[in-house]
Amino acid sequence: MSGEDARKIFAVETVSRRVFATFNYEEVKLPTIEEAALFLRTIGESSDIVEKQMYVFKDKGERTVALRPEGTAGAVRSYIQHNMAATGGITKLFYCGSMFRYERPQEGRYREFYQIGCEYFGNHDAVCDAEIIVVARKILSDCGVKNPKILINSIGCKECRPRYAKSVGEYASSIKENLCDDCRRRIGRNPLRILDCKTDSANLSGFPLSENYICSGCKERFERVKQILAAQNIAFTVEPKLARGLDYYTGTVFEITSEKLGAQDTVAAGGRYDNLVEDLGGKPTPACGFALGVERVVLASDGLPQVCAKKIFVAVAENTFTDIALNLAMELREKNLTVEGPLPGRSLKSQMNIANKLGFGTVIIFADEEFKNKEAIIKDMSTGSQTTVKIEKIKDII
Ligand code: HAM
Repeated sequence: MSGEDARKIFAVETVSRRVFATFNYEEVKLPTIEEAALFLRTIGESSDIVEKQMYVFKDKGERTVALRPEGTAGAVRSYIQHNMAATGGITKLFYCGSMFRYERPQEGRYREFYQIGCEYFGNHDAVCDAEIIVVARKILSDCGVKNPKILINSIGCKECRPRYAKSVGEYASSIKENLCDDCRRRIGRNPLRILDCKTDSANLSGFPLSENYICSGCKERFERVKQILAAQNIAFTVEPKLARGLDYYTGTVFEITSEKLGAQDTVAAGGRYDNLVEDLGGKPTPACGFALGVERVVLASDGLPQVCAKKIFVAVAENTFTDIALNLAMELREKNLTVEGPLPGRSLKSQMNIANKLGFGTVIIFADEEFKNKEAIIKDMSTGSQTTVKIEKIKDII
């Protein structure tokens, strides 16, 4: 990854951290490697991620481990292991880091990619589902992703989801000959996955809709999620066949897409997973979360915000000005500015060229005439304008 690519990832991360902080989420660091069984139990044995995409291997202790394909399983494990429920009330976590999925790489789909995600534990109210969507939407808009499309659905809870899955399976059986090999296998194992199949997306029109199968509790909650989003002026589309490719979801699920992207157009996705904490050995705890693909956010953005500190280059016309220029550079660093130079031994012209090439917006020039009056020039590289200032005053002006 080039410096420029890393800077873009840093920009998305900086925006996300700020937004998470405003919603009171706390950062957690999750292990890159976990026992493979954790992902089998959470994402689901018959999911594409587990069946085809996980990097699984034996470590030197003959344990079967996997490079994490996503963050939710690790976050839930960490929530239980560190007894975060003990604080009572709610726990809100976020994480940033590389995820690994063995896929055929193409634009927006990589084998190692960077995800930023969050998980909200302990709140079963629709306010929580809506907050997750609002947070994702806010990060995307602050990252310059224009007109993202929010697709939402409810796939039902422990009680009603199996009813919906059964009906999807029955319908799939009836049109079996039109489905791909993978979906034929899914009929008996995990029918809802058929709704997420990219190969069969053209064959989905006659499939049952979740709204006709979910229970009244799920319906009520989903209505409330929609009301809260509407009241916050968040535009969304109900997509009644949105099911998501991971098994742990219950109730609200969502995806956010960008028309700027090609085939891989989902920039962020998530939903509620009320059974997962209990399934992994914790107390029954409602939970909800999402993750965004940072590379996809970069691709979908019309312009990432400038998040790096102001960059100042200090240039000297004479080697004898070096010490005083170095002192100024250190004073500016105390103000958390990014400072480069001076580069004595190179001509002033060459130093200016370097500053320009490295994208420094401001250059402070210790030039001969001005130096005699204890002054230096501040040059704005974008406009070319120059002002002459007393050297002792520069640190207060910049
Ligand atoms: P996911 O839909 O598997 O959900 O991934 C979330 C996002 O990660 C996708 O929308 C996409 O932007 C990005 N992504 C996935 N695979 C790739 C890839 N191969 N290359 C580039 N970007 C990719 C999850 O991972 C869930 N853990 C989200 C969640 C959190 N649900 C609840 N909490």
